[in-house]
Formats: sequence, C-alpha cells, structure tokens
Amino acid sequence: MIAPQSLPDEIPMTPEIKTLAVLGAGTMGHGIAGQAARFGCTVVLNDIDEARVQKGLDAVRATFRTAVDKGKMTSDEAAASLDRLRGEVSVEAAVASADLVVEAVPEQMPLKRALFERVEAAAPAHALLGTNTSSLSITEIASATKTPARVVGLHFFNPVAVMPLLEIVRGEHTSDAVVAAARAFGERIQKTCIVVRDSPGFATSRLGIALGNEAMRMFEEGVASAEDIDKAMVLGYRHPIGPLALTDLVGLDVRLAISEHLHRELGTDTFRPPQVLRRMVRAGKLGKKTGEGFYKY
Ligand SMILES: NC(=O)c1ccc[n+]([C@@H]2O[C@H](COP(=O)([O-])OP(=O)(O)OC[C@H]3O[C@@H](n4cnc5c(N)ncnc54)[C@H](O)[C@@H]3O)[C@@H](O)[C@H]2O)c1
Repeated sequence: MIAPQSLPDEIPMTPEIKTLAVLGAGTMGHGIAGQAARFGCTVVLNDIDEARVQKGLDAVRATFRTAVDKGKMTSDEAAASLDRLRGEVSVEAAVASADLVVEAVPEQMPLKRALFERVEAAAPAHALLGTNTSSLSITEIASATKTPARVVGLHFFNPVAVMPLLEIVRGEHTSDAVVAAARAFGERIQKTCIVVRDSPGFATSRLGIALGNEAMRMFEEGVASAEDIDKAMVLGYRHPIGPLALTDLVGLDVRLAISEHLHRELGTDTFRPPQVLRRMVRAGKLGKKTGEGFYKY
C-alpha cells in the first residue's frame, strides 16, 4: 500500500515559534530576520555565500541603528536583538533546529521548489515551512514536499520593519493548525495578519497591479500627468503614495513580471501589461533604482 501523504492532524505542532531560519538574506530576508529577532525569536539568516550572509546581517544592523536614532528602540534592545541573530551559509544547518523556516529567495518557481525539497529533508518534522513569494502558487511550491500541510505563504512587505501587514496565504493543503501558528507568529512580531486563499496575486498584488496598470494606461492616454494621477489617489483616496510613484519604488521590471504572471493566470485585460510599461522596461527605465521611471530621481 502506498503511504498516504501526511494529513494536517498528523503534523506535531509547536505551541510557539521560538527559532526561525530565514533563507535568502536580500531585501526581504534581512527585514524578516531583523523583525523576528527584535521581537524575541532566535534567528538564523542564510544565503548562498558568506559575503551575502554578511551583507544581510549588516543590513539588519543598519535597520536597528535607524530605529535607535529615531527613538523607536533602545540601544540595549538593539544589542539583545543582535545577540539572537546569526548567519549560516549551509541551508541544512540553518534549518536544523527551526520551528519556522521562511524562504525569501528570488521569485522563481524551480528555485523555490528545489529549496523546499532540501528544507523538508533537513528541518524538524514540526517546523512550519513558509514562503515569502509575492505571486507564485503556494500549492505548487508545497507539492515539492511530502508534507504540504505545513507549507504556508507568509507575504511580508518592504520595508518589513515599517509595513504593518502580513498576508498569510493558505495553500490547498495548508492545515488550520499551521495557519493559526503562522498568525500567532505574525502577531508576536507586531504584524496585522490577513488570511487569503491561494490564488494568483493573493489580495495585495492583485489589487495593487490592477490599480497600477490602469494608472499607466491613463498616463499613456494623456488623461493627466504622472504627478496629477498620483495626487488623485493620495489626496482623493488617502493612499500614502500614488500608483505611479509606487511602481517606480517597486521597480518597473518587477511590476511587469507580476503583471504578465497575473495576465497568464487570470486572463482578464486588467492585467495585460500596458505598452508604456514594456517600453520603459526595454529602455532600462526601471524606476528609482535606475534613476528614472515615471519620475526622475
Ligand atoms: N522586494 C520586495 O518588495 C518584495 C516584497 C514582498 C515579497 N517579495 C518576495 O520575496 C522574495 C525575495 O525577494 P527579495 O526582493 O528579497 O530578493 P533579493 O534579490 O533582494 O534577495 C534574494 C536573496 O536570495 C539569495 N538566494 C538565492 N538563491 C538562494 C538559495 N538557494 N538559498 C539561499 N539564498 C538564496 C540571493 O543571493 C539574494 O541575496 C521573492 O519571492 C519576492 O517575490 C519581495
């Protein structure tokens, strides 16, 4: 007889997440590691080489320094948080005693699936396996493992120390206990959680791209200037930043990739990437990071 896949109830759950492994020490990984260390977790930060691990640890130190300078954290709290954080180049060693693994490596399905296979083999049986993907299917990532019930989307926002939301994404097989443990963890590290079913773009990216694409089409049609389109949302709808300025901040290439993915998955014209977006990406105008997008920097 073929052994059935682990069902949700068969997974022994930790009552509390104390030790975290974060895979990928880039923009998101260092932010997640810093936030968890700050609110009491022991954290191991992993990347593919020592230089990248160190860069991630340095970025956490810089975040804490800013928090101390702004009076949001004492220097004793910063020092205690840093004591709870260490770097590790081996994935297997990083996850060996984790209660929760958060994967934050580049947005490529084959890369994430291969990593989850390795993580499942090396992490404790009770560990939750989280992914910070902003658009890929949790169910598809989970299907690289034998225990999809413990795989969950943990979608944080950039910069992690500042943005209050954690979008918890429930895959087809994610257990209720795993969603509850993920929520408890999110609240412990001071995030407000929403729970979303695994569907393209979840709640955040789907609505964000819909608004951004329409703003770009309006810009293309000459409805108004970039500044005025953004002001419409900032002053008329109380958005903290306009859709075009946000596109510049996130990166036009990143937004194009997500838009193409949503268009493929959902089929509606809302997600067809605007021509102006394609043109600007081809011209290397990727937003703030290249000095020019809808605005000049
Ligand atoms: N940047 C954002 O605003 C944002 C927001 C929410 C979610 N995300 C998602 O978070 C994930 C990471 O994005 P990012 O912006 O932090 O990317 P990034 O490029 O800044 O960092 C990714 C890091 O992963 C490392 N890495 C690559 N392969 C690895 C492996 N096998 N093991 C360990 N580390 C590995 C890279 O060296 C790099 O340091 C992506 O899935 C992205 O879609 C990004």
